[in-house]
Amino acid sequence: MARSDLVIDLVEAHRRGDSSRFRVLVEAIIAEERSNQHHLVADRLSELITTWGSSDLLTRDDAARPVADLVHEIVPRRRLSTLQLAPGVFAAASEIIEEHHRAELLRSHGIEPRSRVLLEGDPGNGKTSLAEAIAAETMVPFYSVRYEGIVSSFLGETASRLDHVFEFARTRRCVLFFDEFDTIAKERADTHETGEIKRVVSTLLLQIDRLPSHVIVVCATNHGELLDRAAWRRFQVRLTLAPPSREQATQFLETLRARMGGELGLAPRTLADKLAGASYAELEQFAQDVRRRYVLSLPDANLHEITQSRLAQWRTQAHR
Ligand SMILES: Nc1ncnc2c1ncn2[C@@H]1O[C@H](COP(=O)(O)OP(=O)(O)O)[C@@H](O)[C@H]1O
Ligand SMILES: [Mg+2]
Repeated sequence: MARSDLVIDLVEAHRRGDSSRFRVLVEAIIAEERSNQHHLVADRLSELITTWGSSDLLTRDDAARPVADLVHEIVPRRRLSTLQLAPGVFAAASEIIEEHHRAELLRSHGIEPRSRVLLEGDPGNGKTSLAEAIAAETMVPFYSVRYEGIVSSFLGETASRLDHVFEFARTRRCVLFFDEFDTIAKERADTHETGEIKRVVSTLLLQIDRLPSHVIVVCATNHGELLDRAAWRRFQVRLTLAPPSREQATQFLETLRARMGGELGLAPRTLADKLAGASYAELEQFAQDVRRRYVLSLPDANLHEITQSRLAQWRTQAHR
């Protein structure tokens, strides 16, 4: 039998209607049942949440059926204010959000809100989070396009699968998110690629252009330089999400310390120095690792030692 605290949390999550928390808890129960060798229970539970997970989208929305394997719906929760952004990026994102909040006013003057956004930057500095925050702040669903689904081995089908996605998106207010956009768009530059891929990319870019402005298209790439100019030009807003400076890292660690409700073993400024070069995601990971080890080694935990040993690990990571 699963731990009683999990079951209680589960019921509470259900009562609050918090389906993502519910799912996380069911997954925790499955993991626990597996570790207790209760494979039948675990299998049955995971079957239940898998079928229910994918039918989630379908039952709510009939039109979503043909694209269910191409588009992944995420309930956007991330708020803009929880992200640490350079002032220019924050201002641009706020403007886009305002334009969509007040789209009717703009349209009454014959102007459309901007709706094509390119986010560029190294991994872990907030591209996906910002796209999600734009959806949360404009209160629209967040649809993330799955490449595995789109670029199938049946290339002939790819363009028509893309058509499905755009057809689906154009009739609703939403954020349509293309992650690793360069993986599709850059192919055009590779001369050895087949004409088929080029055709797919041209279709993709054209389709993006033709979307009504109530669909906010956000494309993310780690390699802005790989996009050709035609692709680049299509975006009305292009933002670079840079890794944190020392000052920003210090601030972020202070925020994390407050959010996690405990010290990190060293002053944020000192830690920021020692973790120079880390992305936001890596800083967050580091802080979580420290807190995790700390909690698990209570009551006689030595926070400072934990932090030192995590720092030593950080330094020996191959890529530094
Ligand atoms: N600018 C940021 N401010 C606050 N947290 C961030 C920021 N960038 C990244 N993070 C944290 O790191 C995690 C991963 O970031 P993500 O948005 O997926 O980055 P990317 O899509 O650029 O690889 C996020 O869920 C968030 O918790
Ligand atoms: Mg991402």
